Order: sequence, then C-alpha cells, then structure tokens
Amino acid sequence: MCGIVAYVGPRDAQPILLDALGRLEYRGYDSAGLAILNGKGVEVRKKSGRIEELAKACRAKPVEGKSGISHTRWATHGAPTDTNAHPHLDASGKLALVHNGVIENYLELKQHLTKAGHKFSSDTDTEILAHLVGESFEHSKEKGEKCLIDAVRKALQKVQGTLGIAVLHADLPGLVVGARRGSPLVIGVGNGENFLASDTQALAPYTDRVVILQDQEIVALYADHFDVASPLGQKAVHVEKIENGVASSDKGSHPHFMLKEIFEQPETVRNAFRGRLDLEESSTKLGGLNLSLDQLREYERIFVIGCGTALHAGMVGKYLIETLAKIPVDTQHASEFRYSDSPVHPKTLFFAVSQSGETADTLGALREAKRRGFRCLGICNNVSSTIARESDGGVYMHAGPEIGVAATKSFTSQVVIFTLLAILLGRLHSLSAADSRRLIEALQQLPDHLHALLKRSDEVRKIAAKFASARSMLFLGRLANFPIALEGALKMKEVTYVHAEGYPAAELKHGVIALVDKDTPTVLVATHDGVYDKNLSNLQEVKARGGPILAVAHEGDQKIGGLADAVFSVPKTHELIQPILNVIPLQLFSYHTAVALNRDVDKPRNLAKSVTVE
Ligand code: F6R
Repeated sequence: MCGIVAYVGPRDAQPILLDALGRLEYRGYDSAGLAILNGKGVEVRKKSGRIEELAKACRAKPVEGKSGISHTRWATHGAPTDTNAHPHLDASGKLALVHNGVIENYLELKQHLTKAGHKFSSDTDTEILAHLVGESFEHSKEKGEKCLIDAVRKALQKVQGTLGIAVLHADLPGLVVGARRGSPLVIGVGNGENFLASDTQALAPYTDRVVILQDQEIVALYADHFDVASPLGQKAVHVEKIENGVASSDKGSHPHFMLKEIFEQPETVRNAFRGRLDLEESSTKLGGLNLSLDQLREYERIFVIGCGTALHAGMVGKYLIETLAKIPVDTQHASEFRYSDSPVHPKTLFFAVSQSGETADTLGALREAKRRGFRCLGICNNVSSTIARESDGGVYMHAGPEIGVAATKSFTSQVVIFTLLAILLGRLHSLSAADSRRLIEALQQLPDHLHALLKRSDEVRKIAAKFASARSMLFLGRLANFPIALEGALKMKEVTYVHAEGYPAAELKHGVIALVDKDTPTVLVATHDGVYDKNLSNLQEVKARGGPILAVAHEGDQKIGGLADAVFSVPKTHELIQPILNVIPLQLFSYHTAVALNRDVDKPRNLAKSVTVE
C-alpha cells in the first residue's frame, strides 16, 4: 500500500524513478509524485491519477538531477488529489518526504505544530511528518548530513503508527535518508549508485543485490555507499542476491494480468506440489515447516489467520485438515484475531497465509500469536517478505509475481499447500495410504484438468455477457465449496463493482432469499458430492422465486443442465480437490464481466495489491 522509490547516483534520477515506480503501481495507484534535487533546490512534480499522469507532467517539464525520491499513493488521509499526493515539503520548502503507512497521532501532532506557526497545504498525515523532521533539522546546529539522520530519528520518536519513509534536503545533495517501522523498505545496491524501494521487484532492472531493512532501522543512502543504523547504533548489513523477476512481470499475449494469472494456474498449481509428494510413504514432504513428524503429531489444533482471498484458502484448508487429519481448525480474519481475547488451546499450531507476505493485519496477527507463545508458520508467495521472515517456518507458494490486484493463482496455490498439509497431518494420524494415494493422484492430474477447464474461457465469456447488467449477485456453496462461493463473490465485487454476497447454500432461507428476484442471478456451486441433493433443493427454491441460476456443475450433469439458466461445466476430480477446479469458472466469470463492463481489471478502484496499513 503506497510505493516508495529513491535514487542516488550519477544518472538522471527522473527516468529511473518513473520506471521503478511503474513496477510498484500495484501497491497504490490513485496519485503519484517525485522530488529531485536540481542543483538549486527541491523540484517537485505530483499528479492525481495513475503514474502515467505523472510521467506526462514530467515529459512536459522534465526535472533534472541525480538524486530523488518518489511515491505512488493509496490514499489513507485525504482524497487522492494533486495536493495530497507525495512528496510533501517541510516549512522551509527545502526538505521533501515520501511515506508509506499511517501516522495514528497525526491530529495531536498537527495541533502542536499549528500552534508553533506551521501552515499545511494538504490533508495528509505525511505532511505533518515532513514538518516534524524539518523542524528538528532546522533546530540542529550544523545542519549537516548527520543532523538530517538525527532529525529523522527524533521525529520518528514522536509519531505512532506504521511507516516506511524517504527524505531528502536541498542543502544535502547526494543523500537520501530512509527509515522503516512496519512498512517494508529495501536498499538496492548498485555500482556507484544506490536505490531505496518498497520491494525488490521495483529494482529488478537495476540491481539484483539488496539489503532488506529491518524494523526501526534508518539508512543514509549515498551514491557510493550506505550506512544502516538500528536503535542500538551502526549496523553491519547482509547484502542478498535476488532472482530477477522482470520477465515474469510481463502480460505476454494476454490483455490483462488477471487473465494471464488465471491461465498460469496449471503451472503454478504444479509448482505448489512439485518436489513435495512422497509417493513411497503415500504422503507429502514439507521441510520448510521446520518440525519433525513427532513434533507435528503433538499439535492438537490448528489456527489459520489471513485476510480476503488468503483467508478463503484457509477456510478450504480447514475443511481438508478436519476431514483428513481430524484435527480441529479455527480460521479467523487476521485483523480480528489480533485484537481479540479469545482463548486458544495451548497445543495449537498457527498458519499465517499471505500472498504478499506484507499484509499489515496478517503480520500483526502473526506477531500477536508469537507474543502469546505459539509457533506460527507462514504460507507466502513473496520469499523476501516480512511474514516469510518473521514466521517460524512455512511453505512457499512458488507462484511467481501476482500483479493483477485480484488474487487468482495465489488462491489455488494456497489451497494446494493446505491439501499437502492435510495429507501430511492425515498420514500422521489415521489417513490410510490408499486414500492418501487417491488424493495425490488427483493432485497430479490437476494441471491437466485446469488446462481443459481454461479452454472453456470463451463459454464463460458468453455467460458473463448475458448477465453483466445485473447489479447484485448471490454466490452459494456448501462445505469446502462455501469458501469457493465467498471467493467468487469477492472476485465479482473487486473487479466489476457489482454487489455480490457469498453464503453457505442453506443460509438462503434464513434471510438471503429475500434478495432473490429476476434481476439477481444466483451462482450455485453444485458439483456432485455428499450435499449435491441439498444443493438441488436450494436451486429449486431460487427458481421458484424467478431468480436466474448459474451453476458450477460437473460436465454432462443433465439434472442441473435442465434446471439452471447457465452452467459452468467443470471436470470431475476427487471430491476434496474439486474446489480448486470449481473456483476457476468463478474467476473467469468475474474477469469477463469486468471486461464487459469496461472496468479497469488489473487496477480496480479504491484497491491496492498489498495492504500494508491496518
Ligand atoms: C482479493 C485480494 C485480497 C487479498 C488480501 C490479502 O482478490 O487480493 O483480498 O487476498 O488483501 O492479501 P495477502 O494474501 O497478500 O496477504
């Protein structure tokens, strides 16, 4: 949420900042800006709207200079206007600052600064921070480089909340100061030039050597070196080599990242189980859990925390683990767990699920679980993320960068990982080798089934075109297909802005049925399983009230074919693996509906890919 890039070196800063910002646009895209030291002072350009708007302004009137800071915004305080866009200046107009995060005590600080004569031009919390740092710097005697670093440190002592910041000062050319508390920041190490960014992806074309800043650290970034200090003083750093992910963040022949990522699922699903199947033992191997089989057997309960799509994957995981391993599983929104007093059984193993590994609510919940003394494992895609680093072990998704704001391939990878976990735990308890083998075979067949299913994308497009005028939709499913219904509804809301609700199918008659009418399609996940007949009854209930029915059903299901207004046909697989196939038409349905409605599929309004604020 919000992206930061800074550059210090011998090259023109503007094109580098704009290019790198473009790779961070998924973090926020309602306004963008940059500040560059042009030899005379700080020159700022900022524009509401996409980074392209900023680029246009910079092309019309380029800013020349060799060091600069930049920002792409997801508004928290203040509307997405030119004025509220970052960078913000201090009272002297010489210091510029960009910020990712939220300053919780900003009103109190603003009152204090206003009394001292400060004037503010924006509605943001960030401008307060710029003034605080500026005030502290102006009060320093020498106004040298060390003073700017001290000014940042002192200002941060006064603010509460999360932040990642970058600061520069007109009188200190060749220096950018960065600081991290809660929001990620990485140093990109170049040859005679250095970078700062919210993630490594932004820096992929420039360097593959990075230093991941830890919480409470401050960096002084120069062209030829950088110094990192923790609250304990100067710190030796570890430069890591990262894999360059530029190629995979390309849309290829697809019009949108979302569609590309939906179509990548045969491969990403395979990557999630590759090397993790133990055919000899009819089990799975998850070495990253950092637990011996005996230790794993000791856990009596599991608790899954996550947000949005990641939590939905955890809900499918609950069903799988409870069915195969008979271990009770709790799932909770990370944001709720974090502040709740609910007692947790002492022999509980936690899992924090997060594609980005940076979601503030999930990170907060992970820290809370660890604070209470629980072992907490991560299921993440981003290997260098904070959640991946702070968890006690875990399983990587290996799904490659997910750029589309709506999560698709990460969901199926997470469900595959929960399947592997459920098999492993099941085999430690009472799951038979024969039953486990059937599941493993179904997993191995999954990429082929997905290939076949994705060939039906055009059928889904035609159904989407027919129902795109609906202003509200219901998504229903039971058991493991209930989270699939939730996920279908979430995808629909996110990318089409059509109101959608997901429910367990039987809840229909407890109130939801009042919404059914001829203009409100109901999407029912009704593949053949133990509750198939119950789902058919729900289908009849909707039909009896004139509601259009769109059913996810097995290929060749005549009964449903005869009753539903449209059918999303899916191949038949093992009942416990089926939800992974069932979600695909729902992803495609929301995608094609969004295209039919001319929505900005990869960057839906008001959203950001990585939610690094609470
Ligand atoms: C939905 C979506 C969000 C994320 C949620 C958690 O399409 O993208 O609901 O799933 O913000 O994000 P991660 O998995 O990065 O923690």
